[in-house]
Amino acid sequence: MASSLIGGLLRQGFDAAHIHVADPDSGQLNRLIQRFKVHGFAENKAAVEGAQAVLFAVKPQVFRDAALPLASILSRNRPLIISIAAGVPMKDIGRWLGYPAAVVRVMPNTPALIGAGAAALCANQSVSEKQRTLAQKIFDAVGLALWIENEEDMNAVTAVSGSGPAYFFLIMEIMQDAARELGLPADVAGSLVRQTAYGAVRMAIESRDDLATLKKRVTSPGGTTAAALKILDSEALRKLFLQALTAARDRGSEISAGFGKEQS
Ligand SMILES: NC(=O)c1ccc[n+]([C@@H]2O[C@H](COP(=O)([O-])OP(=O)(O)OC[C@H]3O[C@@H](n4cnc5c(N)ncnc54)[C@H](OP(=O)(O)O)[C@@H]3O)[C@@H](O)[C@H]2O)c1
Repeated sequence: MASSLIGGLLRQGFDAAHIHVADPDSGQLNRLIQRFKVHGFAENKAAVEGAQAVLFAVKPQVFRDAALPLASILSRNRPLIISIAAGVPMKDIGRWLGYPAAVVRVMPNTPALIGAGAAALCANQSVSEKQRTLAQKIFDAVGLALWIENEEDMNAVTAVSGSGPAYFFLIMEIMQDAARELGLPADVAGSLVRQTAYGAVRMAIESRDDLATLKKRVTSPGGTTAAALKILDSEALRKLFLQALTAARDRGSEISAGFGKEQS
């Protein structure tokens, strides 16, 4: 995630000299320095010194350990804190840092790696307009960046766009397997499914028509698509998706609730 954000920022013309990176793994740190020509630091404290914004791209379970030693330096400089850690509530970040930090919590997704991410951003009350603009600029660099008002909605966002790429990969995998069952060679099945998904998504994004209209246009009465949709477009499938997204959202709530339980 950090690599994709750095790559996106550089593509948008950010100056590599203004990006400071820390990673406890020296091999990983060196790879980032060599690839992006950013300033690398073995120590987090040295990396955040004088920063305008500090982005924590660490796993949720190590966030607290990464944040606690930085509390005094960050409380002195008061930079914008950006967190992409899934499920870590903003109030816990403020609690670990020990001051009313300006925090923007973001749920990005993996297509950010190719500049086609979808991220939802949420700010706490301490975040200024200027800091909002900075956060927006960072995530605009790797795709779509939208603001949400309620932090509780982050779990629904996680269920939709955070985990979402996996649902699309699953559907493509199912279509690919079915295409093979129908006798197509593996490479043909794979290429047709991927390009069809790509074409459909581009049409959905570029067209002014809603999804139901786009679907209807492919479906001539009594034709092949109608035969398939008669089976697929069912209440059962809609219910299954609702159940799946609800399970993802609820798992997000469970993980978030776990963070408040440890000692500050
Ligand atoms: N991947 C996704 O699709 C996705 C989507 C949305 C949100 N996120 C969130 O993005 C965050 C990063 O995910 P990721 O997949 O990029 O994880 P990752 O590949 O494990 O990257 C985390 C990096 O942070 C480093 N790190 C660990 N402890 C640190 C510390 N104390 N100080 C500084 N750096 C430290 C890790 O180093 P080591 O390898 O040495 O531990 C590693 O290089 C997670 O919180 C995740 O919830 C990810």
